[in-house]
Amino acid sequence: MCGISCILALRGHDTTYHQANGHIHTNGDTHALERKKIVTELNESLDKIQHRGPDARGHWLSDDNRVALGHVRLAINDLSPDGAQPFHSPAKKIHAVVNGEFYDYDRIRKEIESTTDYVFSSRSDSEIVIALYLHHGLNFVHYLRGEFAVVLYDEEQQIFIAARDRYGIKPLFWTVQPDGKGGKRMLIAAEMKAFLPLGWKPEWDVRSLKDAGWNHDERTIFAGVGKIRPGHYLTCTAFGHLEQRQYWDMTYPDKNLPDPRTPEELIQGVREKLLDAIRLRLRADVPIGIYLSGGIDSSVIAGMVTHLVKTEGVALGSQPASSRVCCFSIAFDEGSGFDESSIANRTADWLGVKYEKKIMNEAALAERFEDAVWHAEHHNPDLNFVGKYALSEVPQECGYKVVLTGEGADEHFAGYPSYLDDYLREPDNAYEANNTLSEPERLKQFHLAETAAKAYYDSVGADTSARGASVSRKMLNNISTISSMAAFLPRVFAPWTDKAYGLCDPQRTIVNNADGTVRAKILNSWHPLHSAMYIWSKGHLANIFLTCLGDRTEMAHSIEARTPLLDHKLTEYINGLPPSVKLRWMPEERRFSEKWILREAAQPFITRELYERKKHPYSAPTTWPRDGPLHKLLKGLMTKEKVEQLGFVDWAKVGGLVGKGFGEKGDPGAMRTALVVAEWVVIAERFGVATAEGKF
Ligand SMILES: *[C@@H]1O[C@H](CO)[C@@H](O)[C@H](O)[C@H]1NC(C)=O
Ligand SMILES: *[C@@H]1O[C@H](CO)[C@@H](O)[C@H](O)[C@H]1NC(C)=O
Ligand SMILES: *[C@@H]1O[C@H](CO)[C@@H](O)[C@H](O)[C@H]1NC(C)=O
Repeated sequence: MCGISCILALRGHDTTYHQANGHIHTNGDTHALERKKIVTELNESLDKIQHRGPDARGHWLSDDNRVALGHVRLAINDLSPDGAQPFHSPAKKIHAVVNGEFYDYDRIRKEIESTTDYVFSSRSDSEIVIALYLHHGLNFVHYLRGEFAVVLYDEEQQIFIAARDRYGIKPLFWTVQPDGKGGKRMLIAAEMKAFLPLGWKPEWDVRSLKDAGWNHDERTIFAGVGKIRPGHYLTCTAFGHLEQRQYWDMTYPDKNLPDPRTPEELIQGVREKLLDAIRLRLRADVPIGIYLSGGIDSSVIAGMVTHLVKTEGVALGSQPASSRVCCFSIAFDEGSGFDESSIANRTADWLGVKYEKKIMNEAALAERFEDAVWHAEHHNPDLNFVGKYALSEVPQECGYKVVLTGEGADEHFAGYPSYLDDYLREPDNAYEANNTLSEPERLKQFHLAETAAKAYYDSVGADTSARGASVSRKMLNNISTISSMAAFLPRVFAPWTDKAYGLCDPQRTIVNNADGTVRAKILNSWHPLHSAMYIWSKGHLANIFLTCLGDRTEMAHSIEARTPLLDHKLTEYINGLPPSVKLRWMPEERRFSEKWILREAAQPFITRELYERKKHPYSAPTTWPRDGPLHKLLKGLMTKEKVEQLGFVDWAKVGGLVGKGFGEKGDPGAMRTALVVAEWVVIAERFGVATAEGKF
């Protein structure tokens, strides 16, 4: 797991060296001077993402100075210098930098060695990218299993490729910027801060902030900076034509096609595939630990890892199988409602694993707030990301670089409360014979769930009735999960932004982000539960859970987190299961069991306490005391001057938020909005973002 930063000069770019005064340098070797300049600025760009790869650094610059690939390395596989990047093909015509991890690579490598004449120069998993590209062209992406961001340049074909893993676990941002001499360059990097030394002058994308585009589609919070979408690659041919294409997507069965498999078969299937996904992720040349909370997702991983170590003698990376599994977590002050560490402690005792926990309090959160925002590169309406940032300090302090985490379980096994309403919207015709929920019961529960959902959406200010909401929902077969996804939008924008950016409706952003073929499937063939899970995964999973609650706050402390529950062989299987084994009606208890099939598959590996535990929604404290460290921090950040400097925020709407948000009777809504605005102030200061103004 690493960091990459690359530069591609686009057609029209002048490749000769220009002096600072804009004049062309006429004496000496201008080509060599230009090379030196590019290498220096690329190096400065890598400095900004040094945390992603503190172990080594490398770069490659094409002979014609057009393509530069930079890399910082966190050494995980093949710790020798052979594993240093960029990688080159044996004929030195294909060049690549990789951030991420490819699993099952021993098998893939053997297959390449036995079917082709490719000779590997390292034992690193990353090198398979070059070999696969040589033998499969752009199809190389189909052979990759794991999380990755890859930039590859094929000199002979003049094709530049930037590919991102299926779920967007590893980041890749890009922008086209003036080169200072009348031409343009494409910049592409693991984090946007890496663009700063390359001439990027950050500006707010106000429309994207208002309509939540940064949270759902290709946009970010900065104008002109985009993401490579999950499951896509971007190509640039002959330094001119840019295009993003999809190579993989989540899909679900036809809701009316009966599934003949028994629940027992399905439970067994999930169990085997999850064990496979975990087994593959225990391969590394460094030790591997686990993030353990009080939830079922991380506990089943800890349980299965322990099982694999004990019964199959699988080693945890470089640790011998005889060593103890080590789990990490953070715990918050008692009474915060945040502390699940007593359950995690009982799980750890039961499994016989080591358990390292760090105690956090309000002061510790306040202290880390600004750095966590700098790393996240976007706002977030609560402090969970600061908690995740602190959590990644624990393995680092214990000498670990790799951990396993449970991310992705709620998206694939229907763990979020908002899914219930959409599950009940239609019968599960695919599993009629094995469904525990009768049709009259479904109708009754649907009515209850809809009433509860509406009350909830009203309480959090999600717009379900007004404006274009009914059209948006209709476009996705009426699923209500999009209303929950559009909640918590800060209503603080300056009046001029209404005129400049039109009607900004996050629900419409969410709907439009699903492409036309997907919307057709949602209308005609997918069960509404599956549609809800799809939409959520493209928005919140890709752009919050995997960013400020994932890669960005983990890599801030050089921690690689592996996500077995997002293994695509596993998720393709799960996505193919009928809705009613994900959310299951328990007739005796008269309640729904969310993530039912995961719970059943996990049963031999987890404590009875967890197997029987009803969903306990995990949420951070929403209010904090007056005059405490967080109150003081936010007061300092949210001054009239700093807020007005943003340009797009109306001081009249935010001036009183800090006063309203803190204290015993603090208003959680005011608190959330105050956090968002304070985070924008931090971003403005740290990135040097220009004040937004209404211009065209
Ligand atoms: C890159 O920057 C590092 C310091 O951050 C410095 O030690 C190194 O010499 C630089 N390398 C080049 C090629 O400029
Ligand atoms: C769990 O907590 C108990 C009591 O504080 C302690 O004795 C035990 O060592 C803890 N278990 C682990 C695995 O840390
Ligand atoms: C969607 O909801 C609207 C308004 O409640 C209703 O008229 C319409 O029939 C629903 N469409 C579907 C496909 O359920």
